[in-house]
Amino acid sequence: MAADYRQTASWLRERLPLVPQAGVILGTGLNDLADHLEILFKMPYSEIPGFASSTAPSHKGNLILGKLGGVPILCLQGRFHFYEGYPMSTVVFPVRVIACLGVGTLIVTNASGSLREQYAPGSIIQLNDHINHMGTNPLIGHNDETLGERFPSLNDVYDREYLEICRQIAAELKIDLPQGTYIAVTGPSLETKAECAAFAGWGADLVGMSTVPEVIAARHAGMRVLALSVVTNYSNLFHDLEHSQEEIRQNANLAAENLRSLLAGFLRKLAKA
Ligand code: HPA
Repeated sequence: MAADYRQTASWLRERLPLVPQAGVILGTGLNDLADHLEILFKMPYSEIPGFASSTAPSHKGNLILGKLGGVPILCLQGRFHFYEGYPMSTVVFPVRVIACLGVGTLIVTNASGSLREQYAPGSIIQLNDHINHMGTNPLIGHNDETLGERFPSLNDVYDREYLEICRQIAAELKIDLPQGTYIAVTGPSLETKAECAAFAGWGADLVGMSTVPEVIAARHAGMRVLALSVVTNYSNLFHDLEHSQEEIRQNANLAAENLRSLLAGFLRKLAKA
């Protein structure tokens, strides 16, 4: 039988040298953040009970405990996407493990396509809301009452205080950090022009294939969430250009340095709070 997230959390607690301040999911092209950590513990997903292994291009599969800005964080270097064929329970398993470790903050990063002309590739956007267009929900099925309630509210799903802290840090660092709404699709095919036009009309600013399941699972388990998205390409709404995997990686790398500074600043403030 697959390991339960609670068992995995107990198993990890015996191996981790300390309880981290926050969990961080590193998305496409942002895996390099791990190279800038003072690493205290690193383990491939394949050695952790209950973790699947990540198959997406440019996604590594490691759990890393390290310090950024002097603050200990537990990083998921590589995530499980629904489009890879994993059930939602597998996609959100690592988040639930982190919640069961007693970590109260989840920072989610991702790569997205832009539905707004002003959000050019290379921009970093703070998510202030989302639209779940994946046609499913990670909370469907038996509800683990000890983890969270049956019908959790998603009002202010992205923590207001965290949004404000990040806004202030961005201003101090002179990094442009607009806010936006993210729509999650399953992929793996990219969106048509008509879909992009519809999503923009619904109020979405960014489109991507991740994040929303993990954020729902985190909120269900009572974690506070900050999400930062790196725009890697314009959606089909603006260009007929095909976006290669290489192009997506290059744009994500452009923003990586700013993202690192923002995260370090945010973590320092969080640790002081
Ligand atoms: N669409 C969906 N997911 C994405 C995109 C996109 O244009 N860019 C990066 N992730």
